[in-house]
Amino acid sequence: ALNPAFRVGDQIGEVIREHTTLRGNAVDERVQELLAGVNLPDPAGVAQRYPHELSGGQQQRVMIAIALACDPDILIADEPTTALDVTIQEQVLDLIRGLTRSRQLAVLLITHDMGVVRNTADDVGVMYRGEIIERASVETFFRNPKEEYSRQLINALPDLTIYREAEEKDELLSLDNVQVHFPIRRGVLQRVVDYTRAVDGVSLSIGRGQTYVLVGESGSGKTTLGRAVLNLEPATAGTIHFDGAAIHALPRSAMLPYRKRIQVIFQNPNSSMNPRLTIAAIIAEGMKSLGLEVDDYDARVTELLERVQLDPAMSARFPHELSGGQLQRVAIARALAVEPELIVCDEPTSALDVSIRAGVLELLQNLQRDSGVSYLFITHDLSIVPGLAHRVGVMQAGKLVEQGTALDILTRPQHPYTQALLAAVPRLDGA
Ligand SMILES: Nc1ncnc2c1ncn2[C@@H]1O[C@H](COP(=O)(O)OP(=O)(O)O)[C@@H](O)[C@H]1O
Ligand SMILES: [Mg+2]
Repeated sequence: ALNPAFRVGDQIGEVIREHTTLRGNAVDERVQELLAGVNLPDPAGVAQRYPHELSGGQQQRVMIAIALACDPDILIADEPTTALDVTIQEQVLDLIRGLTRSRQLAVLLITHDMGVVRNTADDVGVMYRGEIIERASVETFFRNPKEEYSRQLINALPDLTIYREAEEKDELLSLDNVQVHFPIRRGVLQRVVDYTRAVDGVSLSIGRGQTYVLVGESGSGKTTLGRAVLNLEPATAGTIHFDGAAIHALPRSAMLPYRKRIQVIFQNPNSSMNPRLTIAAIIAEGMKSLGLEVDDYDARVTELLERVQLDPAMSARFPHELSGGQLQRVAIARALAVEPELIVCDEPTSALDVSIRAGVLELLQNLQRDSGVSYLFITHDLSIVPGLAHRVGVMQAGKLVEQGTALDILTRPQHPYTQALLAAVPRLDGA
């Protein structure tokens, strides 16, 4: 990883001095040549910056530049794009593909993402429990995987031909021109010099039993919008109605009944669970804090764990004894415990392995079918839209640039940004 305390150019220069005979100006020239080689615009300017002044994708390019500094024959790239947004991910993969040709570089790419494999590799090896269980060319592998585990991985790829019909249902949640602006303060007096327009005039509505998927890259304002719906962040302007009632301006106490009716699931279940409580206590805590009286908490916890397909024996365990996927199921159970009508799901599957992700998404869909709960599903990943969304909204820089039915967005995207997101989704056909 990059050292946050040093300029990017100095970090690359250090590697060059350590491994080559270049000195003085020749080092600076080589630094800029390397930065240009990974398609960073304004290499001289980038060299002067600190890592935090670069985006995630730019940092990854700098890492690749460092790796190339000594003219290697082989590049080992360990999950090089996992932390990046899809559109940026595609650009970094494009760079790596380009380098294999222009520099005759061999790449050992380590990834859990079959879309990346499909779009980048020549040959594939599937690792399972410490062993390579299958090796093949990409073509053969995707056409005819030999192992059951390989098949599972391939099946986790999105099928962009499955859509849910958006039905006309009673409106449960509606947002009208919602804005959330954060003041930017400067100087000793902390004067407000400007505002971050995190959410900048969003209107949308969600029907009962329906799923609205909100997609957009990191920083586009998705989480802030979700927090506004939960009334954790006051709306600067606009209105939010839930089941006909205006909830955007409610004081804390008046919001209490809605805390039961609107629940939330976060990306990282760990951060929202007290590590010292057992799973049973964590689930019961949610019910108690909302004043829900239950005769037999143990029986209720058992029933909830069964609903999210976990072994009820897990109720005695602690969060650290569960896997990420299991913990996310616990978070879902805790949300379901108070029988909400709407669940705000903020990137609930983004931190999970692909093979686990599909199971959690399927669970959420089954729960919706059984209970009629609505979801506001926030994600940066358009590939989970098929099979999940009734309606989709595409968010960019605080605004909804496009919204429509899943079918519209997936087959007839109008906005260039939606088209770019869609083009970046890895597909089975490898198009
Ligand atoms: N509490 C806050 N104070 C100031 N700025 C914030 C706050 N929360 C979010 N922001 C800013 O609002 C923008 C949107 O952030 P966020 O809603 O987290 O986006 P996303 O969830 O799409 O990644 C970002 O520029 C972020 O830095
Ligand atoms: Mg977010």
